[in-house]
Amino acid sequence: MSNRVYIFDTTLRDGEQVPGCQLNTIEKIEVARQLEKLGVDIIEAGFPVSSPGDFNSVVEISKAVSNPTICALTRAVKKDIEVAADALQFAKRGRIHTGIGTSPYHIYNKLNSNPEEIIQRAIDAVKYARKFVDDVEFYAEDAGRSDNEYLARVIEAVIKAGATVVNIPDTTGYCLPAEYGAKIAYLVNNVPNIDKAIISTHCHNDLGMATANSISGIINGARQVEVTMNGIGERAGNTSLEEVVMTLRCHKDLEFETNIDSKQIMKTSKLVSTLMRMPVQPNKAIVGRNAFAHSSGIHQDGVLKNRENYEIIDPVEVGVKESSIVLTARSGRAAIKHRLSVLGYELEPIELDELYHKFLELADKKKDVTDEDLEILVGRDKEEDTPRPLKLVSLQVTCGKSTIPTATVQVSFHGDVFTETAIGNGPIDAAFTAVKALVKRRVRLEEFLIQAIHRGSDDVGKVHVQIEHKGSTYYGFAAHTDIVTASVEAFLDALGHIE
Ligand code: KIV
Ligand code: ZN
Repeated sequence: MSNRVYIFDTTLRDGEQVPGCQLNTIEKIEVARQLEKLGVDIIEAGFPVSSPGDFNSVVEISKAVSNPTICALTRAVKKDIEVAADALQFAKRGRIHTGIGTSPYHIYNKLNSNPEEIIQRAIDAVKYARKFVDDVEFYAEDAGRSDNEYLARVIEAVIKAGATVVNIPDTTGYCLPAEYGAKIAYLVNNVPNIDKAIISTHCHNDLGMATANSISGIINGARQVEVTMNGIGERAGNTSLEEVVMTLRCHKDLEFETNIDSKQIMKTSKLVSTLMRMPVQPNKAIVGRNAFAHSSGIHQDGVLKNRENYEIIDPVEVGVKESSIVLTARSGRAAIKHRLSVLGYELEPIELDELYHKFLELADKKKDVTDEDLEILVGRDKEEDTPRPLKLVSLQVTCGKSTIPTATVQVSFHGDVFTETAIGNGPIDAAFTAVKALVKRRVRLEEFLIQAIHRGSDDVGKVHVQIEHKGSTYYGFAAHTDIVTASVEAFLDALGHIE
């Protein structure tokens, strides 16, 4: 048996069934072209009989891509098969994917039928599809909960009828990895003509085992795996392409190969996520934003010594530029030193020590400390060397709904401390009024800008202030997690320049 595993991507069919993820034809073509670049072997482009839009997408995708086989889904219904064949007319290589339920749930409850009638309908569908195309895939829906003996009879019959690929879906995501693997092994050992077809896995993720089940299926004889990008799909989703591909790649001992250019993985993931408006969970394997981010001090130190201490995949292999060191309150000096040197700052051990304490203070207030925050910390250090004439000693504000905003400000001026209280239309206005009363200068606020550059309510607020005094303009800046404090410090910074 060859070790080549075919990647059948159903992002545009099973993935697109997710509510709110529907794409128009132009978007589907864009995804299909990217899937072609990624190197998938088969693209399931849609279910043509389901809607004119799906029909049109299969037609246009068939015209737009040439390397992958284009597959169209049908039920075991003549009309579906005719429409699918029509939609595939422009495909260089077209495949019809037809099938029927084989579990007791499907045979009796859904189809109101019996096992023998189901086998006949399966044979008829495959034979009919073979009249239009040479490549026919049969799916035994809910194979995961189907009796293995009966399933083997169905599979033998459809291969005899002309099926080139036999798909064994765990439609409800019920199977355990060993159980699913045993099912595939059972078919390999008990279907006499199994060598005439490729066995395919199609696993759903209801119990979080879709990837494990697919890998188990491959180990036991399947050579096609049905996947979606980012694992999107019905309910808890399908097996994720990136997880299967990278598992096979990491476990070289298994000796399986795919045609995937793994460097295209991240790009494809982002495209699918953006077009389908389906965010990728941060801790998603391979493509989540944290998949290559290290935040604890011990891990950061280990990764900086040698990436492989804590990474089994080189991020470059999946199209991610580099691993990231996220600076949080759990980061150690090694990570701060590394980040500072990337930013161009080389600090003496004693300076690093001082900065590290400031960093921890900030990190306690803010979840992630960004490069910009670090630069501010470094800059503040330098600023502290040049004494500022006006310094904020304390600030207390009262504000909120049905409260008159009031601020009490204590400012030191060349060492002497002055206090003033004022009201305003908001806490910043009240604090500025108090400061103006303290410094007894006629100043006009020309510009006042608060920026929170990164996401999250825990961000550092950066405040830029521009004031006018006797025809001249003075500029001030400050940053703090408390924006009222940042505003007053920026105002004092500007006033200090008049001095
Ligand atoms: O999950 C499933 O059984 C399917 C089939 C239509 C292949 O998606
Ligand atoms: Zn499915």
